[in-house]
Amino acid sequence: MKPYRPDSDLFEIILRNLKEAVVFADVKGRIQVFNPVAVDLFRVKEKQALGEKFERVIPYKTIKKQFDSVYDTREGHYDIELAIHIPTSGEDEARLLRCSFHPIVDKKGMFLGCLATFADITEKGLLSREISQSKDLSTIGMLARWMAHEIRNPLSSLNINIELLRDELREELHLAQKEEIQSLLNFISYETLRLENNLKEFLDFNRLPPPKFEWVQLNEVLESVVRLLRPDAQMKNARIDVHFQRKMPPVKIDVSQMNLAISNLLINSIQAVSEKGEIRLLTRASKKNVFIIIQDNGVGISKEHLPRIFDFMFSTKPTGSGLGLSITKKIISDHHGEIAVKSEVNRGSTFRIRLPLHPKTN
Ligand SMILES: Nc1ncnc2c1ncn2[C@@H]1O[C@H](COP(=O)(O)OP(=O)(O)OP(=O)(O)O)[C@@H](O)[C@H]1O
Ligand SMILES: [Mg+2]
Repeated sequence: MKPYRPDSDLFEIILRNLKEAVVFADVKGRIQVFNPVAVDLFRVKEKQALGEKFERVIPYKTIKKQFDSVYDTREGHYDIELAIHIPTSGEDEARLLRCSFHPIVDKKGMFLGCLATFADITEKGLLSREISQSKDLSTIGMLARWMAHEIRNPLSSLNINIELLRDELREELHLAQKEEIQSLLNFISYETLRLENNLKEFLDFNRLPPPKFEWVQLNEVLESVVRLLRPDAQMKNARIDVHFQRKMPPVKIDVSQMNLAISNLLINSIQAVSEKGEIRLLTRASKKNVFIIIQDNGVGISKEHLPRIFDFMFSTKPTGSGLGLSITKKIISDHHGEIAVKSEVNRGSTFRIRLPLHPKTN
């Protein structure tokens, strides 16, 4: 049987129907394929793109770097998140892209060029993307929040109404079934109390998964968190600068929990800064401790809010769940460390974490 060979029409149909932008540049870096999603995304017509140099059509440094690297190393780079600012008639439009760069070789292993794909993930937002385990934990958090709203509020109004009924009953001196009603009321009140306690237990998130401690280089762990979040900062034209102390002693931590703790802080900073914001992540070590410091020049926290920011479900954001900092605090205390904050409205905030190198337990 003859092998089935799709004709070029079929390729074109496939390219047309893909939800990702697809760009292929030949061995000289000239674009040979530029599908309709690419046209929409990069705001360049197909005719103008074909035959042009890649960097002239897609003039973004961060993308060019990955693209060049494929030509230099003949190795692919996959699922990298990059932010770009597309110039429009008004303000720049920030888009967050998940990109892959594939080296293409023929049957004989000859390098033919680079195939790049771009998925627009701008709408997915910070927290819905996979940032270590935060996805799972924030799902639990969402559930807790939902429970709290759906059950806690009616429960408290139920309690108030039971008390009102009790008062009324007290005044009804001659009611025949007074005792029976009273005992029914007691039963209802006991059951609501039980519900309230169950709810409290459920919401009491002293029950994060138990930490798995391992010896690691803190700077490397932090570097990987920053790598994940940098595109989100770039979306706002903000920078995350790292100032790591060299030769840090190894630390014994639960890497995924620490990732989550630090990403919660960095996400808050990214949300707090405006255009041209600056976020700094520093590490320091002393004989007995390591310190992680996260600074931003964002909106800051008012004196009134400052004592409450680590509280469970305290949030000043319209769509915030108020779980970030409480989870971070819990993680740091599970590491026998401390977290402190200094902040000034319109100047910015500094969070400082101390982790003991030789905690008494574990
Ligand atoms: N870097 C910061 N700059 C300004 N305000 C901050 C900063 N970090 C925290 N806050 C304040 O503390 C509150 C609590 O933060 P937390 O991270 O616990 O919750 P959230 O960010 O509102 O919601 P979530 O993290 O669950 O999405 C925030 O709503 C905000 O008011
Ligand atoms: Mg937060």
